[in-house]
Amino acid sequence: MKPSFITLDGIDGSGKSTHLATIENWFAERNLPVLFTREPGGTPLGESLRSLLLNPATHVGLRSETLLMFAARQQHLDDVILPALAKGIHVVSDRFTDATFAYQGGGRGIPAADIAVLENWVQGSLRPDLTFILDVPLETSFARVSQSREKDRFEQEEAAFFARVRQSYLDRAAADPQRCRVIDSNRDKNQVRAEIENILQQHFKAV
Ligand code: TMP
Repeated sequence: MKPSFITLDGIDGSGKSTHLATIENWFAERNLPVLFTREPGGTPLGESLRSLLLNPATHVGLRSETLLMFAARQQHLDDVILPALAKGIHVVSDRFTDATFAYQGGGRGIPAADIAVLENWVQGSLRPDLTFILDVPLETSFARVSQSREKDRFEQEEAAFFARVRQSYLDRAAADPQRCRVIDSNRDKNQVRAEIENILQQHFKAV
């Protein structure tokens, strides 16, 4: 079986952590070889960049922020993602390049065409085989984020920023429906879990 590269994305508070566990259980029950990782992060360099990028005290410009996301991604691809796929191990990443299009593109206003240049430079032709976009209304996102720990540099953004981020995810998903599955995550989590499991089932039947 060709290994799959699966990503999970969505605005902050969309239920990613809960449904990462759904995906983990699904793979564990089938005893499939899989590696779980995250962005920004996944390598020592990536985790250091993550600390900087999420720290509210960090001063970083829009282009620098975008470049740092891709610097972390390049290392992640070279050291973790590509070697795992080459060994036949499935890879599930908590966020990937859709987040850059949504946050730095939609949220911050970096042109999508510029992000696409970096995407091609860093990834070549590699794209995820399957992407779950967890979608919730902003009120749900805010209610979930404010219940959690202290807000990071992104979580501190205003509602209009998250409205643009959310819309970017939805637009990207609409432009690539084969790869991107939008999941209404504003429902009972068992319903969401069942939908994700069903999509995984269909995906692995087809590959
Ligand atoms: P999270 O892993 O808790 O979701 O936090 C990661 C934060 O980083 C989240 O607010 C989204 C942001 N982010 C970007 O802005 N651009 C990116 O390319 C990635 C991967 C994440």
